[in-house]
Amino acid sequence: MRFHSLLLGIAALGSMASGAAIVAREEKKSAPPEPPSTKYFHEPGRNDLTGHYDVRYFKEVVEYDERLDTLTHLAKAWLQTTAKEGIETWIAHGTLLGWWWSGNILPWDWDLDVQMSANTLTMIGEKYNMTRHHYTSEDGTVQREYLLDVNPWIWQRVRGDGNNIIDARWVDVRNGLYIDITGIAETNPETPGILNCKNYHRYKPEDIWPLRDTMFEGVPAKIPYNFDEILMKEYKAKALVVTEYEGHRWNTHTKTWDRAPEVPAGRQGESLLKTVREPEKYSTVESGGFFYNAFRLLHWW
Ligand SMILES: *[C@@H]1O[C@H](CO)[C@@H](O)[C@H](O)[C@H]1NC(C)=O
Repeated sequence: MRFHSLLLGIAALGSMASGAAIVAREEKKSAPPEPPSTKYFHEPGRNDLTGHYDVRYFKEVVEYDERLDTLTHLAKAWLQTTAKEGIETWIAHGTLLGWWWSGNILPWDWDLDVQMSANTLTMIGEKYNMTRHHYTSEDGTVQREYLLDVNPWIWQRVRGDGNNIIDARWVDVRNGLYIDITGIAETNPETPGILNCKNYHRYKPEDIWPLRDTMFEGVPAKIPYNFDEILMKEYKAKALVVTEYEGHRWNTHTKTWDRAPEVPAGRQGESLLKTVREPEKYSTVESGGFFYNAFRLLHWW
């Protein structure tokens, strides 16, 4: 009897041990090698040429003129649609820099940037997600269709794994070029009154509001109240005075960035340093040139 229960005990221990081993093996076998990516928006590639298209509508890298035409109408349509629907938004980042120079997009840009408050973002997520918007240009010659796509990760207002820092996109469904839409919100209880996007750009509410009315690409638009400080912080003074950049030269007469093939292209920042002109090289003060813009800058301060 005693011997029998001992045997049973050993058998039970043995089966427990082997059972545990099997469970462990099975867990190991069934565990996926990598967790699936959380990324919501997808692009066909990661470089300058392929990283700025929505993969669902991408066919090929578009030529210079088509890119500019696409971005111009993307901007006009966004501004008109949001004004009509009462969606508060303002231009940001490189698009704001383009406004500062000429009231237009920077012709070397690949995409455009706008911002909104996190509350507005939540609202468009509920009311406008996946809506399509038809657009006809003022002269009636251009017809386009745009998709407003809102990232489900908008509820997460911190950077997280970095895959979803873009909150929404306004996409040209002909070729996949888009406007990036990001929200700003208070996220850190230790720094009340500081708004930030998921990519760590920080603003005070009084830097943004009351928004200023202006024109962009010939259409009524809004910009942050302290646009000059915001630009200085993000791009440094050089971006506001350099007149040769990314294969373009600032035309002081027409106040436009003209194509200049002899101006080296390169990554932003690097080429800015390479092509920045030193003030002493200028012998005359030209309107719209270095001194003009340096003056504008001081004036705004
Ligand atoms: C928007 O719609 C897409 C497609 O149905 C969905 O995957 C996504 O989660 C939606 N976004 C929001 C904010 O609900």
